[in-house]
Amino acid sequence: MWLELLYAATLVIVLCFGLVLVFGPPYLPTMHRQVEAAIKLANLKPGQTLLELGSGDGRVLVAAAQAGLNVVGYELNPLLFIFSWLRTRRYRKQVRVVFGNFWQMSWPKCDAIYVFLLPRLMAKLEQKINAERLNQVPLVSFAFKFKDLAPVSEEAGVFLYSLKH
Ligand SMILES: C[S@@+](CC[C@H](N)C(=O)[O-])C[C@H]1O[C@@H](n2cnc3c(N)ncnc32)[C@H](O)[C@@H]1O
Repeated sequence: MWLELLYAATLVIVLCFGLVLVFGPPYLPTMHRQVEAAIKLANLKPGQTLLELGSGDGRVLVAAAQAGLNVVGYELNPLLFIFSWLRTRRYRKQVRVVFGNFWQMSWPKCDAIYVFLLPRLMAKLEQKINAERLNQVPLVSFAFKFKDLAPVSEEAGVFLYSLKH
């Protein structure tokens, strides 16, 4: 009985973390210093809104809320969605965690976007941002750069981009 439960739990975990790879990057959290750098580079005022694409365990959502921001995070892994929803419950007025595939959803109005994706997804990201008419808002990317676009600034491996054209 216990062994079957253990197998079932392992299967659920493998499926939740594995299936996401079809649609985007694996779960790898942004480190504390880079979370701070990202919030700083986004340069938002309290009450403004940050959009996080693939919000993982919710650490950026919490940091943004603690900085007085409103924040919307999309997360496709059901376990991480539940975990981050619980983790952010005390900031419910500021934080909205949405379960789903961010490529397939229409994004809310926001004042900055934060991502930690994969190099191969950066061009697709630019297309989606243009399609959502959000190219006027600053984009903050941890670790990965656009191929043909120079960042406006950089701190601790976190890059700030302007996609205005
Ligand atoms: C590299 S992790 C970054 C997590 C978080 N942003 C952070 O910086 O700590 C990428 C996250 O995006 C999620 N993800 C991947 N593809 C996705 C998609 N298409 N829609 C929503 N979430 C996705 C993964 O489950 C994972 O939690």
